[in-house]
Amino acid sequence: MRRSREPSQARRSIRTVIQRRRCTCTQRYRRGSRKPVLSKNPPARRAICAADIHPDHWYPLAWSHEVGRAKAHGVRFASDPIVLVRTESGKVFALEDRCAHRQVPLHAGVVDGESIRYCYHGWTYDCTGRCTDIPYLGRDRLPNGVRAYPCREEAGLIFVFTGDPSAADDAKFPQIVSATDKAYKTRRFGREVKCHYTFMHENLMDMNHQFLHRRQMGSMRARSCGRRRGEDWIEVDYVFAREAGKQPIGEALVFGQTRGTKDEESYKDVMTVRTEYPYQTLKIRTKDDTMVMDLWIAYVPLDAEQRTNRTFGLLSIHRPKIPFVLDAAWPLLVWFTERIFKEDRWIVEREQEAHDRQGADHNHEVFPVIVDLRAFLMERGVPTRAKAALTAGACI
Ligand code: FES
Ligand SMILES: [Fe+2]
Repeated sequence: MRRSREPSQARRSIRTVIQRRRCTCTQRYRRGSRKPVLSKNPPARRAICAADIHPDHWYPLAWSHEVGRAKAHGVRFASDPIVLVRTESGKVFALEDRCAHRQVPLHAGVVDGESIRYCYHGWTYDCTGRCTDIPYLGRDRLPNGVRAYPCREEAGLIFVFTGDPSAADDAKFPQIVSATDKAYKTRRFGREVKCHYTFMHENLMDMNHQFLHRRQMGSMRARSCGRRRGEDWIEVDYVFAREAGKQPIGEALVFGQTRGTKDEESYKDVMTVRTEYPYQTLKIRTKDDTMVMDLWIAYVPLDAEQRTNRTFGLLSIHRPKIPFVLDAAWPLLVWFTERIFKEDRWIVEREQEAHDRQGADHNHEVFPVIVDLRAFLMERGVPTRAKAALTAGACI
């Protein structure tokens, strides 16, 4: 089957559904409110996995270094195959990963100047997806090409607008500030995690799971001390206290070394975790408002059921006054953060397995922050059935 380049009736009707849903959100929530907004009806058994990620956003689909000059690289977004092409001049564009001739993956093609030429019969496509040459037919009888996706490269990531291309200009592009600021040193990390993207959001926003990391961080207690919500974001503040033991060196490198006991410094650093759909950030600020840590992270579904995501994280640490200290300690920081990420990955994959084994969402959520986050993610996503209808309508 082949995807139509024209919006089908089904696609238009789904878009209408999405627009109606957006209107509902705007009416229910105070725009830019700084006051906490509590859910009146906690979604006790709403199936969080039923919300597919909304495609009308800019998603990172590869690291810049994965797409070398004059190379093509195949990626996926929720099972949609996409080819990223870096031309001989260094520009990047994104097309449907399909040669219009025999429907084979276009990423096996070769870059020819500013175009990609498929390796079989040499059909050639430019950055708009137009077929510009068929060597044995010439340029007079060219067929339709393939879909092109809006594409941008920022902060070492290649972003693709995966939804309706006409919405790309109005869509908010993620602000990734610290990763391009010399005052910070940035670690780029991530890998595939076998769970729905919503479990990733819940994991990062719920800091009450420090017990999971007790071997890495010792005995820590988080206390949520404020939460806010706007139209397309939700955030919570935490402070931490060490209840026993000394601070591990790896943690000191990531979070700073000023933490003490409950009565000392620890309650003065504030961690803010925000889901700004569809991205997430975690920032730690000291009492003088210096941002000592800034994490930007995105979770990109890979399969149609959205049970596997690829995580792209940028962890920026403020450089200390003494030069090179952070560089020297960097391997330890990498080791520490990798251990934490490994533990988180392990538990969210177990959560996904439990969800699928039970065939429904039986989570018993007690933390209001996560109850609200789950409702927020459901509202911003696309119902799975609507996505199925949209896909079916788009096939010819
Ligand atoms: S299969 Fe693509 S050029 Fe023939
Ligand atoms: Fe964690």
